Amino acid sequence: MTELIWEGKYKDGKKATPIRIALPFQTIETINESKQQRQKSMDFLAAEPNTQYGKEWRNRLIWGDKKYVLPSLLPEFAGKVNLIYIDPPFNVGSNFSFTATIADNPDTDEDETTQFVKQPNIIEQKAYRDTWGKGLDSYMQWFYETALLLKELLAEDGSIYVHLDWHVGHYAKTILDEVFGYENFRNEIVWVYPNKMSGAVNSKNFVRMHDSIFLYSKSEKNIFNVLKVERDVPVKQSKRVKVDGKNMRARNEDGEINYEMSYDVKVKDVWEIPYIASTDKQRVGYNTQKPEALLERVIKASSKDGDLILDSFCGSGTTAAVAEKNNRRWITCDLGRFAIHTARKRFLGIDNVQPFIVQNLGKYERQQWMNAEFENPEDRLKQERTYKHFINELYHAKPLDGYTWLHGAKAGRMVHVGSVEAPVTVEDIKASIKEFWKLVGKEKSAQVNGIDFLGWDFAFDVNETAKQFAAENKVNVSFKKIPREVLEKKAVEQGDIKFYELASLKIKSKAEKKKVSITLENFIIPPDDIPQDVQGKITHWSQWVDYWAIDWNYRDDTFHNEWQSYRTKQNSKIELSANNIYEKAGKYTVLVKVIDILGNDTTKAIHITV
Ligand SMILES: C[S@@+](CC[C@H](N)C(=O)[O-])C[C@H]1O[C@@H](n2cnc3c(N)ncnc32)[C@H](O)[C@@H]1O
Repeated sequence: MTELIWEGKYKDGKKATPIRIALPFQTIETINESKQQRQKSMDFLAAEPNTQYGKEWRNRLIWGDKKYVLPSLLPEFAGKVNLIYIDPPFNVGSNFSFTATIADNPDTDEDETTQFVKQPNIIEQKAYRDTWGKGLDSYMQWFYETALLLKELLAEDGSIYVHLDWHVGHYAKTILDEVFGYENFRNEIVWVYPNKMSGAVNSKNFVRMHDSIFLYSKSEKNIFNVLKVERDVPVKQSKRVKVDGKNMRARNEDGEINYEMSYDVKVKDVWEIPYIASTDKQRVGYNTQKPEALLERVIKASSKDGDLILDSFCGSGTTAAVAEKNNRRWITCDLGRFAIHTARKRFLGIDNVQPFIVQNLGKYERQQWMNAEFENPEDRLKQERTYKHFINELYHAKPLDGYTWLHGAKAGRMVHVGSVEAPVTVEDIKASIKEFWKLVGKEKSAQVNGIDFLGWDFAFDVNETAKQFAAENKVNVSFKKIPREVLEKKAVEQGDIKFYELASLKIKSKAEKKKVSITLENFIIPPDDIPQDVQGKITHWSQWVDYWAIDWNYRDDTFHNEWQSYRTKQNSKIELSANNIYEKAGKYTVLVKVIDILGNDTTKAIHITV
């Protein structure tokens, strides 16, 4: 067979294959789960602790790179996905930038929002380099590996739709032929969008206004529901009948042809569906968002009620949203933080949305990285030390050996590096402060005036409890997040990894008998990612808040989103207070999660007694 070759396709005479490590998923949030179901899940987990949410199905929104997510789905879903639609990045820039919106100051009467384009962060730039770093060669390898894994996930009677355009579509077609088999190619669907021109109009070529969607099945058993659309003008057609298995024109007793009116027609492979206009209600601020009408055709043609649909390039979540509205199950992932946030809000806005979970590969992805990056995986202590030196260097701090809790020094401050496996806890902070005092006590000359805690995650109560303890002990502490970019070798080599200060959130709680009210009082985020002129538009702290949610009875399980308020295109206002009436008196932990306008989240726990 004719084969497309690119640089990197073969290594030592063999085709290079994708990473196949299956990492366990971590559920970070559960949305719309009923109280009864939560209890059932907790009972089930207590009985069988390694099982996620019992046998109940939960739709899944996963934050992570498809390179890790797809192989991690294989153990559970190989051969079980009924339909895949992907709209992978294939165009410079627009795939990773998004439009963030700042609402108006709530103390003013105006209601004008400001928008700005958030440029890709290092992870997103890295994903872009992964795909395009060596031009078409690296894109081909990236695409080929994606196709291989997707094929394994696809059910025998399943179908895959791959959405591309003139940039790479024709190369991708040959790869899809190689992976899925030329004989399984079903259609090249031409999506025509008359209301949008793609690319500059020049005098050297025709105006471009279509994308290509390649449809393949896994086998000849593919599910296909013939779709019909209404004709613009009904036509008179001769009636057809089957005679001896042959399709013939129907005739009356006198031998005259029977006619009937035809009002609909089978859907052909050219689809004229308008691009969603910037003013359209569907728009959720994602540049590459596709129209729901497009996905509706895909889903209705190639799946049935209850089927499982996968989209590994979620973006604004169009595939999952349409799957949800059509009673299909779905799994979708994206490596962009803003994509996950946009999709979550979009799903929440769907009437009677089924409960769904938000997952990532969290500490497992980091462990994987640590084993791959640092020598001596068998010598844990040595590995830990090398890891801590590495993080210190990225933070431009001088690594420090010989102490248990203090691992570096920078500009007169000490540095604690949180472990890969667990969040930095209040206990870690207290122990570090005690060690700090021992050190300062011993070396009076030490030019130290505080501790910077660098962590992948921080326990919920750190900001309040630990800061209070630190203040009582006269140590100035600051908490900074180790960015996910650190996992990416190339991003690190490029340098300038930023460690952002944790956002700080002030909340007031009031309990009256069994009624508790929670009010957001202040929220401060490090504004580094926001252009200076846009920062000037923020005159009230609440303008940073895009979304917040409450778990009224957090029980060390996952965050259960039981109440939420968020801004949408239609309604840019957000509530700043919420109430809950508890059924039983007792002590409760209320967990509040705030997501800022760039998609970063901050969580805080409050303990109440009613
Ligand atoms: C063209 S957009 C998808 C738009 C989507 N169909 C919609 O209607 O909103 C491509 C998406 O793929 C994501 N992406 C790019 N590389 C990725 C990777 N390696 N793993 C997961 N997602 C990735 C980008 O963050 C972007 O959101």
